[in-house]
Order: sequence, then structure tokens, then C-alpha cells
Amino acid sequence: MTNVETIADIRFEKVAVPAGALVHGVGIDESDPQVAKRLNQALHDHGVLFFDFDHVVTPGEFNSFSRLFGEPEDGYPLSVDNDDAPETPFIDSDIVPMKDVRINVFHTDGTALENPPQAAMLTPFELPEVGGDTMFASMYAAWDDLSSFHQRLLEDVQVQHGTTRLPFLRESPSAVHPAVIRDAVTGRKMLFVNANYTESIIGMSASESESLLQMLFAHINTPEYHVRRPWRLGTIAVWEERVVQHRGLADFTGPRKLRRITFKGDRPSA
Ligand SMILES: [Fe+2]
Repeated sequence: MTNVETIADIRFEKVAVPAGALVHGVGIDESDPQVAKRLNQALHDHGVLFFDFDHVVTPGEFNSFSRLFGEPEDGYPLSVDNDDAPETPFIDSDIVPMKDVRINVFHTDGTALENPPQAAMLTPFELPEVGGDTMFASMYAAWDDLSSFHQRLLEDVQVQHGTTRLPFLRESPSAVHPAVIRDAVTGRKMLFVNANYTESIIGMSASESESLLQMLFAHINTPEYHVRRPWRLGTIAVWEERVVQHRGLADFTGPRKLRRITFKGDRPSA
């Protein structure tokens, strides 16, 4: 197997072993349903796709490009309660510092919802000179690499998700999801707990649950499961929210602004 896969005129160049591919041969004005189908298959295979365009992507281009990947959420309901950022269509790290809202912790967006987002998409329009990368962690790799002992323990276990660790959110829903889910496209199993929304493992005592969750959150922090590709102006990153978790790096000074679109999702299932 090579690191470059060619289908029609589209090529997927792996950027890291566990996840992530740079896509060649897709224009910012792409709208072919066959291409969309191929890209969505690749999204579930690679977890995160990067597209490098030769200019800063405009809001109009970003919106039309998003149609390749799904139906946008009208307004992602778990936004941060900050009057200075009323329903911002973009992330501005000056207005909402990453550390204040746990963006710099690996997480899946919105798992306190019954139908959390399926995917999300970012493109920067103002960047610090260096730093402020977004990292992704493969939940296929995190699952595959668990010992069979822990895999057996987590199969068929249900997990409570909520917003206890995120008291600054506008809303506080809760939902129960399996600890392990299966991707509908690839059929692969994924670990489905995250350090922002996962509160407890149902059927365990509080101390058993918290110990096991902290072990799993540390496991997800293993560098061998990660992708880190510095942002550049003109890049779009699209990620499948369940196949990879994501986090920002709060290591920079100066402005960092990215447009974001979040896509509606189905109910995660085992
Ligand atoms: Fe996020």
C-alpha cells in the first residue's frame, strides 16, 4: 500500500499514520455528487481531510463547499455564552480564549445531545505567525490499541454525557451513548468518550467510573493516535466528529480567526 491513493483525478495523500489526508484535485467550486460521495467515504476512512487552496476562502466559497459534506446545523446549540460574541459564525480566540472554554482539550463536539454533530469544517482567515494549530486524534486507533481486557469491559457499556464540566454553555442537555460505537461507512469500531462531555459510566460506582474515564482520556492523549498540521491561509479542514476528536493549541499570541460550519448528525450507535 502506498501513501497516495488515486481515484479519477482526486488523490488522497496521507499526512499522518493514524488519520488525516491532504486532498488533491478538488476545486473550491466542486459540486459533483460523485465527488461528494468519494470525499465522504474518505472522510470516514481518514477522519480528517485537508484542502489547500491558493487564496483565503471567502464565506460564500466556504458555504458552497460545505454542501459536499452534509447539512449544516442552523446554529450549533452548545455555543459559549458570551455577549461579545453573539452567535459568531467564526471562532475568534481573542473573544473566546481557548483555555476558558476547554477548546484546548481533546473532545467531540456536542455529545451531550442525542444527535451530536457528524462533522465540522474550519478555514482560517487570520492567523498568528506561528502556533494555534488544531490537533486530531483517531478514535479508531484509540479503540484498536486498547487491551482486549479493556475492550471487553467497554463493550455494551452505556455512558452518561452532559455539560457539568462546561458550565459556561448556553444550554445544558444530557444524553446517553454507547462507550464504543461503529462507523456506518467503514464498519470500524471507535472509542466514544471525551473529556469535555462524558460524565460517568452507567453501572459503575462514581470512583470506578471516574478512574476508568481518566485512564481513557489519558489514553486518547497518546501521540501515536494524533495528527497535527499547522494552519495556513487557504486551507479547509473537514473532520468526522466521531472518527477523530479535536483540540486547539493555546500556545500563540495575536489574532486567530477561523470560519466554522458544523454538520447535523445521526444518533451514535454500537
Ligand atoms: Fe470543538
